[in-house]
Amino acid sequence: MTLTRREVLGAVGIAAGSCALSSCAMEGMGSFQDGTPKPVFPWRYAELDPDITAQRAYSNYKKGYCMYATFKSVTSQLADKYGEPYRSFPVNMMIYGAGGVAGWGSLCGAVNGSAALVGLFVKKEDEIKQLVDELFLWYQQTELPVYVPQKPALNIEIARSVSSSVLCHVSCTRWCKVSGHKTFTNPQKERCKRLSADTAKKTVEILNAHFASRFSAALQHDEKTRQCMPCHTKGSKLQNTRGKMECNSCHSSLADEHMNKGNEQSV
Ligand code: HEC
Ligand code: HEC
Repeated sequence: MTLTRREVLGAVGIAAGSCALSSCAMEGMGSFQDGTPKPVFPWRYAELDPDITAQRAYSNYKKGYCMYATFKSVTSQLADKYGEPYRSFPVNMMIYGAGGVAGWGSLCGAVNGSAALVGLFVKKEDEIKQLVDELFLWYQQTELPVYVPQKPALNIEIARSVSSSVLCHVSCTRWCKVSGHKTFTNPQKERCKRLSADTAKKTVEILNAHFASRFSAALQHDEKTRQCMPCHTKGSKLQNTRGKMECNSCHSSLADEHMNKGNEQSV
């Protein structure tokens, strides 16, 4: 069947214009040639309950681990509220983040999934950085996990530790040292489950504040890192490294005199 131009436009008009039920989230953003409405970017957020988010993250963990847990805790609630495009999001892709990306121990999956959420809802780069900075600083500096589930999968007391790092390797290992448990054990998984719940909760608190125009950064880098950055990171004289992680978590053996290095050199 050949459609006239008018019929095609009519079909597209109906697809884009009818905001019936679940298609509301995709309203007003034009359509593909076949009439399917295009999802707008960034996707629409709605204020969420931080405690419900924590519960969802905790229970999601068993299906896809840390990154999946935090990411889906939010998108599943928005799927309940808006339907599409949330309902079709291939959340299973987030399983890759487990164990610091496929077991590499790099970026903790809980914060990776949370930062992906920020990227889904916030368009401006400087705002993304502000929100992620707050989340990552919180993760590095807070004694975690705090969350205690109503029905714990493993009903034991879980020790709290400060990671001083967003790296899975460091975060997990520091917790093992504090708790006396080994990695790849049920207690360690229970810790990461609860940590995912805390991280999802914090993310929703940050997003709620941002979209209510009441976000303001509360945390800052530790003192050492603040001293290092003006000599070594973006915009500094040497500018020979990049990043905002706690410098001391890796460069812990630098002598105090190091802080005067620039002064000697400038003579
Ligand atoms: C006053 C400026 C200044 C400050 C503050 C400073 N550095 Fe440096 N840093 C230097 C200079 C200059 C060098 C030598 C660079 C070269 O020789 O190429 C250096 C070298 C380094 C090196 C490589 C060589 C080495 O000594 O191991 C590391 C790593 C380093 N700094 C880390 C840090 C960290 C971490 C901090 C914060 C705790 C810090 N720096 C604070 C100026 C500074
Ligand atoms: C996760 C561990 C880790 C963290 C966190 C970290 N670094 Fe490094 N850094 C390294 C490693 C590994 C090297 C490479 C050392 C080498 O090759 O000699 C390095 C190298 C450097 C160098 C040497 C660059 C050069 O040209 O020789 C500087 C300077 C440096 N880091 C500064 C910093 C500062 C400042 C921070 C905090 C903002 C920081 N690092 C955080 C691991 C880390």
